[in-house]
Amino acid sequence: MSAISSRQRRTFLESVRLRAQPLLKKTWEVVSAVSVRVKILGMMLGLVLLLGAGVTWQVRNSLTSAFYAQLENESITTARDLAARAADPILINDLVGLQRLLLETQENNPDVRYAFIVDKDGQVLAHTFGSGFPLALLRHNQAAPGEHHRMVVLETESGLVWDTAVPVFEGRAGTVRIGISDARLRATIHALTLQLILMVVLVSTLGVLVAVFLTFVLTRPINDLVQATRRVAQGDFSPRVPRWADDEIGDLAEAFNAMTAELARADEIRREREQLRRQLLEKVIATQEDERRRIARELHDSTSQNLTSLMVGLKHLETLCDNPRVRLSAEELRGVTARTLEEVHEISARLRPRLLDDLGLAAALERLAHEWQARHKIPLDLLIHIGEERLPVEIETAIYRIVQESLTNVARHAGARSVSVLVERRGGDVIALIEDDGCGFDPAQSPGERRLGLAGMRERAELLGGQLTVESQPGRGTSIHVQIPIRNP
Ligand SMILES: Nc1ncnc2c1ncn2[C@@H]1O[C@H](COP(=O)(O)OP(=O)(O)OP(=O)(O)O)[C@@H](O)[C@H]1O
Ligand SMILES: [Mg+2]
Repeated sequence: MSAISSRQRRTFLESVRLRAQPLLKKTWEVVSAVSVRVKILGMMLGLVLLLGAGVTWQVRNSLTSAFYAQLENESITTARDLAARAADPILINDLVGLQRLLLETQENNPDVRYAFIVDKDGQVLAHTFGSGFPLALLRHNQAAPGEHHRMVVLETESGLVWDTAVPVFEGRAGTVRIGISDARLRATIHALTLQLILMVVLVSTLGVLVAVFLTFVLTRPINDLVQATRRVAQGDFSPRVPRWADDEIGDLAEAFNAMTAELARADEIRREREQLRRQLLEKVIATQEDERRRIARELHDSTSQNLTSLMVGLKHLETLCDNPRVRLSAEELRGVTARTLEEVHEISARLRPRLLDDLGLAAALERLAHEWQARHKIPLDLLIHIGEERLPVEIETAIYRIVQESLTNVARHAGARSVSVLVERRGGDVIALIEDDGCGFDPAQSPGERRLGLAGMRERAELLGGQLTVESQPGRGTSIHVQIPIRNP
């Protein structure tokens, strides 16, 4: 039995929880969505209204029950007093005197709604109703002859009436009836309630004004903090917020200011480091290019000359020597020297194409494309629209190296069937676009520390204030887009 009831209780509690949960969630959603200002205003107003309503209700209830007890008492004492005073006029059958007594009683007590006297047979001897006596009233309250009094509460159209019947001479001389109305007390309670409501409205208005001031004092520093935080989020570490008061929010403002100062310092250090890194990188790239240029020149001017001399010497040896075996060896050696010379030329051109220095980017790229196609047997579509005017040398070098590394990557990784390279001036920028239809890759994946090609390309572009974007997906080819602004045309 008890197991069933505890299970039922659990089921009931569970169903209450299930029903209350969405309601609580919804309430929380509404409460959390409004601003602090509205929350404080709502709290203040809600509390004042709740308190006002509670006090009004309590006062009304207490007053009503106290007044009703008083009316009951008044009804009995007035009826008994009237009965005592009415005994003599009834006995001498002084109807005029009875009437006067009733009217006097009514005049003296404004709560008396009516009063009347009936004889022992139930005949009305005198009453205060003026023209017509409501006969039905006789039935509503009748005191038995021996009774001290009998009181009933009648509900009428104009309110409650405490009707008391008191027998005169134990009923032998008749009965006095009196009706005490609650109209006056109701009006008093009504007026009091109105005053209380007025007071609540006044206090609420005052409460709202105080709440508005409080929320202003509270939310102003918070709003300042929010705005400052937004600026910090955008990378501006300069905002400082004033310390409005010596409280927790003031402490928060101070902590915020300390944090932004620290962030500004850290940002300054970061900028300095970045600047240093850029300068170092620029130097490294420039030194690398110079070194390549120097080695290329060395190879061309010295090694190539020596190899050419060697070839001329071997040729001469061939003509001078009659021994066919020596001549054959000299011829073979001349072939090896010629191939070496060719390779030295190639290495020298790859290190630093003279064309780039002498004739500019277009010529160097055409040569690069031509040699790349010949070496890798992949069709390459090259389009160059950079006009006659030469670009700044660092931009020419950067674009050349980026295209060169991109083509190397295509040859090494892409397995492409065709490649296209576009280089053009667009507005104040140079644009390079290298696209292949190869296997593609996921550029979001870290390429690893030893893979420097793409990172180097990006660094070169960014050092000149430009940017490089790689678009690629496995199986969808790769396209590399470079844009570099021409600052000193
Ligand atoms: N055109 C391409 N097609 C397919 N994959 C590519 C292409 N270009 C680059 N990748 C991928 O991106 C990776 C990184 O390229 P990156 O040029 O940085 O390094 P790497 O070529 O491997 O080495 P290196 O440092 O010698 O250039 C490559 O290993 C390759 O997987
Ligand atoms: Mg590479």
